[in-house]
Amino acid sequence: MKHSVRSLLLIVFGGLLAAAVAPAAGPADSSAPASGPDRRAVLVLTDPERHLVLEEMRNFLAVLQTISEALPGEDMKAVAVAARKMGSGAANEIPPETVAKLPDAFKQLAGAVHGSFDAIALDAESLGDPKHTMGQVGEMLGKCNACHGIYQIGVVRAPKRAVR
Ligand code: HEC
Repeated sequence: MKHSVRSLLLIVFGGLLAAAVAPAAGPADSSAPASGPDRRAVLVLTDPERHLVLEEMRNFLAVLQTISEALPGEDMKAVAVAARKMGSGAANEIPPETVAKLPDAFKQLAGAVHGSFDAIALDAESLGDPKHTMGQVGEMLGKCNACHGIYQIGVVRAPKRAVR
């Protein structure tokens, strides 16, 4: 009898402990301030490669600015021209040696984003419906966020120049 009470206590205590630890292992809430170390998978790149990838990212953001500014005025031609700049037909400046270092899941998400820009350009021309475009942009931002939640860039042998 005594023995079973002790095991029951152990089970209860164990359960409480698990409940207390569990939240820390849960998915990150993007609206909460960052807590703990960055556990996203590291893409190990050289400094020039990092620069190329981040430049493409800033181009994504710049094109999204152009699209957002064109939408209220329903300038669908400007939307199409901007979106096409980041579509899959756009010259890809990332060299094959760098692409080879990127995991498949990364390449698939990147390809999906370029495909979204293609669809945004095509539909802006054929449908000319700003609300439809806004929906497409929102959906595409989900892909941007998905990738940012998984990966970070780690640089090999690249002493950063100090900012003075
Ligand atoms: C396939 C993965 C992937 C996709 C898709 C992606 N990004 Fe990124 N992005 C990254 C990574 C990795 C970084 C670097 C993050 C880090 O090291 O912390 C980054 C960084 C950035 C940065 C910071 C640039 C800088 O100069 O520091 C911006 C802005 C950005 N992304 C915008 C976007 C936008 C907008 C989209 C969607 C249109 C997008 N990204 C889609 C992977 C991706």
